[in-house]
Amino acid sequence: MALCTSICKILRRGKYFLLLFLTLSVLAWIATFSGDTFKSIQFSSATPQTSVKDDTLREKLIVATVLAKNVPTVPPKHDCPKESPLLKGPMKLTFESSLTLKEVESENKAVEEGEFEPKECNARQSVAILIPHRHREIHLLYLLHHLHPFLQRQQLHYAVYVIQQAGGATFNRAKLLNVGYLEALKDYSWDCFIFHDVDLVPENDHNLYLCDKQPKHLVVGRNATGYKLRYKGYFGGVTALTKDQFLQVNGFSNTYWGWGGEDDDLRIRVELQKLKIVRPPADIARYTMVFHKRDSGNEINKDRMRLLGRTPRVWKKDGLNSCSYKTLSIERMPLYVNVTVDIGKPS
Ligand code: BGC
Repeated sequence: MALCTSICKILRRGKYFLLLFLTLSVLAWIATFSGDTFKSIQFSSATPQTSVKDDTLREKLIVATVLAKNVPTVPPKHDCPKESPLLKGPMKLTFESSLTLKEVESENKAVEEGEFEPKECNARQSVAILIPHRHREIHLLYLLHHLHPFLQRQQLHYAVYVIQQAGGATFNRAKLLNVGYLEALKDYSWDCFIFHDVDLVPENDHNLYLCDKQPKHLVVGRNATGYKLRYKGYFGGVTALTKDQFLQVNGFSNTYWGWGGEDDDLRIRVELQKLKIVRPPADIARYTMVFHKRDSGNEINKDRMRLLGRTPRVWKKDGLNSCSYKTLSIERMPLYVNVTVDIGKPS
């Protein structure tokens, strides 16, 4: 009986133990299972994304490293030196009668629509070359032939503008140059303007087509006059004025029709502003003048002395600020911008 009682007690307690054991097992299983599920959810949602990101980043880094190793680095552009290493000094100029525009174009492939910029350095100035023109095709061809390589050797950023006077009225060089200045500034804010006769070809590339602190006269001598300055105040042929210097003198007068006087008028304007004309040394500022007869439509201006007498009185209202014209066309040719204008006729 006593034995039975003890066995029953044990069994009863064992029941409780079993129940306790089973409960604990279930709880342990729940804890384990839910933990795994949570972890696996975390893993499955986060890991793939992270690994994609890491892989892309790694690939990008590899690609960038390979590129950095293989692609040649472009060295930063420096300012062009004061004296270009490409200059050749005095040159023997040739004027072949068989020369064609196509040949000159193919010799100057780096020029686009009349404009050039050095690749190896930043040009010291941006220069617009203005050439007034009418019926002088052969002179223009010779000038383009020599001038483009000359300017490229000087490492300039430049563009050539040819300003053509339309119609048959007397030629007006000065007014065409005012038009050239105004039209070229619509393309780019040029630092410097070279006012260039079509029949003058520079002989020495040390004659720099750059502007100075003062207006510059580039033709000290030419073959036709024994390479001597024509007279003390001579300011014709080729001159260089900055954008601001030309604005300060109100440009050229518009009233000189025919040959002569307009360059003397510009000198008076410069002097009235207390500016001083500078010139390069005589052995450098040398030009060849390509022979020509006086053009019809550009007869000597017999009125020029009278006009020069009134310059100090009228310069403020006769010039850039009163230059009226009608642009007929602007053609962007390979070697120059061809601006054709109606500038009216003498009143
Ligand atoms: C004229 C100028 C010309 C100079 C040289 C002067 O008499 O007025 O326009 O440039 O002679 O030929």
